[in-house]
Amino acid sequence: SPSDPDLVMRARAAKEKLGDKVFVLGHHYQRDEVIQFADVTGDSFKLARDAAARPGAEYIVFCGVHFMAESADILTSDDQKVVLPDLAAGCSMADMATAEQVAECWDVLTEAGVAGQVVPVSYMNSSADIKAFTGKHGGLICTSSNAKRALDWAFEQGEKVLFLPDQHLGRNTAVRDMGMSLDDCVVYNPHKPNGGLTNEELRAAKMILWRGHCSVHGRFSLDSVNDVRERIPGVNVLVHPECRHEVVAAADYVGSTEYIIKALEAAPAGSKWAIGTELNLVRRLANRFAPEGKEIVFLDRTVCFCSTMNRIDLPHLVWALESLAEGNLVNRIEVDKETEAFAKLALERMLALP
Ligand code: 13P
Ligand code: SF4
Repeated sequence: SPSDPDLVMRARAAKEKLGDKVFVLGHHYQRDEVIQFADVTGDSFKLARDAAARPGAEYIVFCGVHFMAESADILTSDDQKVVLPDLAAGCSMADMATAEQVAECWDVLTEAGVAGQVVPVSYMNSSADIKAFTGKHGGLICTSSNAKRALDWAFEQGEKVLFLPDQHLGRNTAVRDMGMSLDDCVVYNPHKPNGGLTNEELRAAKMILWRGHCSVHGRFSLDSVNDVRERIPGVNVLVHPECRHEVVAAADYVGSTEYIIKALEAAPAGSKWAIGTELNLVRRLANRFAPEGKEIVFLDRTVCFCSTMNRIDLPHLVWALESLAEGNLVNRIEVDKETEAFAKLALERMLALP
């Protein structure tokens, strides 16, 4: 939908007034009306690096979700302020692993006598507390664009991985990219005693997957893939690795949001694509590539936007930019020093991956 011209003008004016003092980051899942004001767009890995590479900007306005803004705060210097235009923009997946639950899980692993062999690997989509836990226990962060390299690194340090909080990214990477079998993976359920697992199961497992998932990507099903193949003969099915294992197994290509964009840029004219990721991005790509004769559809029409990503809309962005331009620091995301130190360790291990 077209953005309100008055708000567009106000956003432009506030950004102009702030000049180099502000740097706006936009995740690929953001609305068009917001993305048009992003100085840089990217997947969560690219945005983490881009935030760290802007030491000159006093304000980093993060158009994305809470865990991304936290990561940006961790990776930027103390005098830089990270702003999230709507504090209610969380992530249901990140909320599925709390610090208390993860501490309890570590106790379970200790009791089972396996904690000494376990390296935690946490998906970027996790709170700063979980990242700090990960750093403290010798582990690292990964994103959907470097999960294999992160697991390679982790298995050089230990025999087992505790993968948090997205079971699907963990399983898909282990089975698709690392040659493990589904039997090498167990799912730890934080709502059950001992994670719902016996100590024997914990000792036998190579991958201990946290029982978390993305509420958007988790909705694509094998039926979505079969239906689109029937509807559009010759279609290429391209999905994000947060999708369930059977969806990923039935797809032709799998990758992060940056990977999806690059694949479509490289696709020949006349090719047909069904994309299994968030709807704002798929619509933008469909519009962008239609003139080149590439047909791009959403993998399943019953799946909808990420509701928390969508909380960042133009009115919130305008409010944040105008407040900053008037000297009012609003909606700052600030991670406390101790959490930051350990979380940074885990993030820097990721950034140092080959
Ligand atoms: P990427 O940006 O790493 O592709 O992750 C997708 C996502 O769900 C972000 O919330
Ligand atoms: Fe979280 Fe999924 Fe939304 Fe990404 S798309 S912010 S993982 S709920």
